[in-house]
Amino acid sequence: MRVVSSIEEMKGLSRGLRKEDKTIAFVPTMGYLHGGHTELIRRAKGLSDVVVVSIFVNPTQFGPKEDYRSYPRDMERDLKICREEGVDVVFTPEAEEMYPEGFSTYVTVEGLSERLCGVSRPGHFRGVTTVVAKLFNIVTPHIALFGLKDYQQQLIIKKMVRELNMDVKIVTVETVRDEDGLALSSRNRYLTDNERKVSRLIPEALKRAEECVKEGVSEASCIIEEMKKVIDRKPEIMVDYIKICHPETLEDVERVEGEVLVAIAAKVGRARLIDNLIIKK
Ligand code: PAJ
Repeated sequence: MRVVSSIEEMKGLSRGLRKEDKTIAFVPTMGYLHGGHTELIRRAKGLSDVVVVSIFVNPTQFGPKEDYRSYPRDMERDLKICREEGVDVVFTPEAEEMYPEGFSTYVTVEGLSERLCGVSRPGHFRGVTTVVAKLFNIVTPHIALFGLKDYQQQLIIKKMVRELNMDVKIVTVETVRDEDGLALSSRNRYLTDNERKVSRLIPEALKRAEECVKEGVSEASCIIEEMKKVIDRKPEIMVDYIKICHPETLEDVERVEGEVLVAIAAKVGRARLIDNLIIKK
């Protein structure tokens, strides 16, 4: 496994691979790897000759009051996991090289970026699309993999790729969950034992929405009320939003017809957790 931190070296490596007609699958991450990340890596291995994983805690996607500094980092452990998973190249750029002084070019997907998480995290998705565009230019993958756990993120990236005519195929992977249903996330690390226990109500609220639809309830406001009842069992969970929206435009729907996205964001202690479920009527 090669570990590369220089942008030029990574570009050269990709150029060489492409000359040899190798297909490159790319899994961008912010590290502190867990079962969700390894699932993306496994899928990537099945789709290409070479798997590149990037590990980069991207400063531009964190707000000034967010957890950029304290975001969990453990490069040794991450490299061990990548080695065990058979990753070919790990790209670990430095923030100073990615964003030299005076950096002022950003990629913005308007509209979608302002919905759901974009409301309480202004600028977040601009940071994500900017870093992903840069990483795509450096790694030049044929395929890039993203998790549906970050549903809005993958939707925005697909739109960016389409509208900027980028030559990369986006593959999405189902959310990987712990036994009690909680979606795996690097930020789960912040949770105390009690917070970890109560957090299972987040996926339970999503299940409740699914049950409601099965029972024939289609009024979005009624379903959201039922979800709130689940969440309100534990005062430790502070809801940011619960939304039922169109899975492509992310606009609120009044009634569940066809496919909808049920999305939730909540703070539990220090951790801001997000989760979602696609429900079909
Ligand atoms: P990070 O949170 O490290 O996630 C990296 C990738 O793993 C994303 O595509 C995310 O959706 C996926 N992922 C995380 N948890 C998952 C789970 N439980 N099941 C399935 N997939 C999961 O998302 C980012 O980093 C950054 O925003 C990034 C795209 C790397 C840009 O900085």
